[in-house]
Amino acid sequence: MELTKKRFERELLSWYSQQKRDLPWRKTDDPYKILVSEIMLQQTQVDRVIPKYLSFLKQFPTVQDLASSSPGDIIRIWSGLGYNRRAIKLLECAKAVVTSHDGKFPRTEEELQKLPGIGPYTSAAILAFAYNLPAIVIDTNIRRVFFRIFLGKPSLLPNLQQKIINHVSKENSREYHNALMDFGAMICTARSPKCEECIFSQNCTTTKIYSKEEMETIASTIFKTKQSKFIGSNRYYRSMILKKVQEKNEITIDELKRTLPQEKDAKNLVAQLVKDKLLIIEKKKVFLPK
Ligand code: ADE
Repeated sequence: MELTKKRFERELLSWYSQQKRDLPWRKTDDPYKILVSEIMLQQTQVDRVIPKYLSFLKQFPTVQDLASSSPGDIIRIWSGLGYNRRAIKLLECAKAVVTSHDGKFPRTEEELQKLPGIGPYTSAAILAFAYNLPAIVIDTNIRRVFFRIFLGKPSLLPNLQQKIINHVSKENSREYHNALMDFGAMICTARSPKCEECIFSQNCTTTKIYSKEEMETIASTIFKTKQSKFIGSNRYYRSMILKKVQEKNEITIDELKRTLPQEKDAKNLVAQLVKDKLLIIEKKKVFLPK
């Protein structure tokens, strides 16, 4: 039997009703909370996000609470998640929602994307997870699921997004995308996919063509699941500096220099962090923004 869009949706939702993960952002339809979860989930894994999501919302339960806080407060609570620029953008977004939208998130893709830090992915995620409106939410996991089941061949990669969109249902948006995320995280994983447990294995294009080893090679080369090496990267030293500043409250660049390897240009790293509004310099001392 052909795997139509409708049949795929029906069987996926049936699998999800039995297997779904219990995730805290699935207990809300508040667009502010959905936004916080989605920003945190960009580049950070679910199990590391859960405790941060809960403590963040304890400290900033509403968009108004966040909008009236300081960058320093947010950077402190964000520590450990990395990619601190996301936190500053989130603050800017909260301020824009409060000042330009009376504290209420817009309900269209166009209006959402005018807000700082909200691009096509995040706006679609808010439409689906907060409002259950038709949207196409395609992250790395979802892209891999559709590619494997319906496309399979790397030669089909050009215009992949459009080819995938053709298979995405527009109904039951919230449940459907949650189900796709779980399916990608639990069954159709990048490494060692659980094809034996997969409800679509009879219809999967990829398993018909490739061995499991070949599938993994394809997934890791085209869907870039592995993060670039963190230790020793620019990002690593940036977060080391932020952590040091948090510990000390204020610190000079010379002191910071002594905590970094000799070849690292502390001044330049601090300048980048200042530009990203993550640090301020006053009278030769470095602080978190007030
Ligand atoms: N990754 C990105 N968004 C997610 C979500 N809402 N649930 C689980 N994983 C995600």
